[in-house]
Amino acid sequence: MTTVAIVPAAGLGRRMGADKALLDLGGTTAVERVAAACGDAGIDEVIVVRREGAAPLPPALAARRIVVPAGGEMADSLRAARAALGPAVAKVTVFPVDHALVGAETVLALVALLDRPGCTVAVPEFRGRRGHPVAMARAVFDGIAAPAVTLRDVVRANRPQLRALRSANPWVVADLDEPEDLRSARCALHGEPWSTVAQMFRHRSRRSYRPDPVPAAQLERLVDAARHASTSSLIQAYAVVAVREPAVKDRCARLCSDQQHVRDAPVFLAVCADLHKIALACGRHGASVQAQSLELFLQATVDAALLGQNLQLAAEAEGLGACMIGAARNHPVELAQLLGLPDHAYVVFGMTVGAPADDPVPRGRMPLSGVLHWDRYDAAAAAAALDGADASLRAWAARTNAERGGYRGRPVSATKGWTERMAAAWGADSEYLGARRTLADELRRLGFGLD
Ligand SMILES: Cc1cc2nc3c(=O)[nH]c(=O)nc-3n(C[C@H](O)[C@H](O)[C@H](O)COP(=O)(O)O)c2cc1C
Repeated sequence: MTTVAIVPAAGLGRRMGADKALLDLGGTTAVERVAAACGDAGIDEVIVVRREGAAPLPPALAARRIVVPAGGEMADSLRAARAALGPAVAKVTVFPVDHALVGAETVLALVALLDRPGCTVAVPEFRGRRGHPVAMARAVFDGIAAPAVTLRDVVRANRPQLRALRSANPWVVADLDEPEDLRSARCALHGEPWSTVAQMFRHRSRRSYRPDPVPAAQLERLVDAARHASTSSLIQAYAVVAVREPAVKDRCARLCSDQQHVRDAPVFLAVCADLHKIALACGRHGASVQAQSLELFLQATVDAALLGQNLQLAAEAEGLGACMIGAARNHPVELAQLLGLPDHAYVVFGMTVGAPADDPVPRGRMPLSGVLHWDRYDAAAAAAALDGADASLRAWAARTNAERGGYRGRPVSATKGWTERMAAAWGADSEYLGARRTLADELRRLGFGLD
């Protein structure tokens, strides 16, 4: 008795704009991943369904059987594959190539479920939604032979014998349909296995890096993903300049309060608000960008910040460490000149990125009651949260001194709380504010208005 996987891969991939079986998923094609998962799960044979005239499959798959369907529907593919099944086949797993990020463990568990008494169909479920692959007893799969019957009909007809496999893998319900799906799949192959929200809780700014370079392909992937943040009216008023050249990085560091991590990081990203492309767009249509507008300045700045936060999160999801550098606003004109920014662009903040070499104590945050209000702002709750903010920062300082020997080589005051620090920074003529005294004038010189 054998177990066969049928891999429908006969679609034209119109929305994807490419043959899905041959999509490159990090050095291996989608169909190869599916075949490898089946092999690892102990499936005896893989039958790939391809349409007439489709491109040849990778040579590594030459030993697999390939069948060609009579029609273009998924059910036609399954009927063609069924006709190729020998009498010894006892179990069939339908594993569409669109679900190539599903791994062997899911296939193995699905096939094993069929051994449970009364189970003839096994389907993975992610958060209550059913997906693929689908494993079936041969007799159930044979139901596909009837004309006009679909896989869904076959599964539905056997619902009492269906068992759902609770899966933690979202790719059982997410298929590779659009180019964005492919990009997200490629990223998933690189990422940490945290959910996005779990990743957010793990955030810490990292200021010390191993010397390993961050590959250009990785940076491209991260920036590409990050720019899928929401953007006001699709304005996309941002740009990122990735500085890897040590001499340029050194000059950036000097313009950013001489912060050593800017110099040390393998790459320094200048996250820019960029109305230059809007100016060009206006020029094409006989208009001129209203760059004097405070609203446009804010839109560009907010957009850049959204991209930047997405970028840091994406970098962290791939195991990198990053630190935003607001000191990039200390000398906006000089930094813009150094990086060759056009008119109507400025660096909102920088970001150092690299493989982290430190393990900082998490800084904590003020109590949530000071941030989240229900229906109307609760000023009493905000005031009460200050004590918690003080306590949280003191606890961070005490731990940092005890466990890390201080912060960047120096002991931190464990008596100063958050409120005292904020008062010193923003309630007095501090070095922070002093460093930005010329900001408005410099932004105007760069082609922004604040009116
Ligand atoms: C816009 C922005 C600018 C920042 N600028 C700097 C900077 O110039 N240098 C630095 O070391 N950290 C900088 N940081 C990092 C903050 O100090 C850090 O996020 C904050 O203290 C909380 O610590 P955590 O990120 O580790 O939770 C910046 C953060 C943001 C969001």
